[in-house]
Amino acid sequence: MPPASRAKIYRGTTRNLRFLAGKLRQGELMGVPSETVYGLAGDALNPRACRRIFAVKGRPRTDPLIVHIHQLEQLELIARPNPAAYALAKACWPGPLTLILPKQDCVPAEVTAGGDSVAVRMPAHPLFLRLLQAVGRPLAAPSANPFGYVSPTTAEHVRDGLGHRIDYILDGGPAKVGLESTIVDLRDPARPRLLRPGAISRADLRRILGRPVAAGPRRAASKQQVLLAPGLLRRHYSPRTRVRLHEQLTLAQAASSKPDHAWVFVKKPEGRLPANVFWLDAKGDLRGAARHLFSRLRQLDRGGYALIHLEQVAGAGLAEAINDRLRRAAAR
Ligand code: TXA
Ligand code: MG
Repeated sequence: MPPASRAKIYRGTTRNLRFLAGKLRQGELMGVPSETVYGLAGDALNPRACRRIFAVKGRPRTDPLIVHIHQLEQLELIARPNPAAYALAKACWPGPLTLILPKQDCVPAEVTAGGDSVAVRMPAHPLFLRLLQAVGRPLAAPSANPFGYVSPTTAEHVRDGLGHRIDYILDGGPAKVGLESTIVDLRDPARPRLLRPGAISRADLRRILGRPVAAGPRRAASKQQVLLAPGLLRRHYSPRTRVRLHEQLTLAQAASSKPDHAWVFVKKPEGRLPANVFWLDAKGDLRGAARHLFSRLRQLDRGGYALIHLEQVAGAGLAEAINDRLRRAAAR
């Protein structure tokens, strides 16, 4: 049994937003909605609040945080943007894109894990934006899950994972994108790098920047640098149940399997379906699949299954991001 939750879930009324903004200014943490996944937010310029974020998540201090802003002027307060950053910000913000840029001095070492770059994003959720505006300060927010577990896409997911450690959760409904933001390293604007695939694809970035975007972190010169790059922790976003990845699934496989195996198709299969058959989207739509993936993994993780079989999606763009999360879920 998980420990009892003490968190209260707040609707996004003007009064609640004002109340929650006051708590953030006092250094408190809270679960906040975004279009990608829910975040665990704290004042990004308050080192003590940032240290508490790591404690609440059980996250190693070496894994830096994303700073969230609601207007472009705040970008210059915390980072040193280059023309490539402005181009992407203008085209994609508010939206599921995080930029890695050289940091300004006011950003505490807690946020950047001691490094000299900072991750910045303007989220496309009306309640998160209103909260940021009411606080008047940038907010650091990693995904609101215990370190290593599946990211939350509803307020209830946040309560399930962290409700015994936080007091406030702002409910903004189910996340519209459902996967964490695309992260692009723009420290060298001539050589942009995709550090984490997301709903904004490599092709989108290439089109906006007018140059190719390399995949994966720059080769690290030291151990410290390795830790600063995301996605190097291969096992991440993982359910506790064992997961096996398949290029394609068939109903025959599912029908002949033990009942304690769950089979997750991308698209709802046709015909009579055994009780251990699931899908990510009824029509196999990729946006739907992305939106439902994490809640499906959480549901099946509670279902007492011995093994979860996941089917990879076909195609590029959003498919790259979905397959990345499927691989991580399956990594041991
Ligand atoms: O969609 C999202 O990005 C969500 C919502 C809440 O905004 N946030 C999120 O945060 O996914 P988190 O902490 O779970 O993942 C952020 C990733 C981490 O892998 C971290 O290593 C990387 O961003 N990161 C943060 N700052 C960085 C930096 N300065 N350089 C390289 N990677 C960085
Ligand atoms: Mg995370």
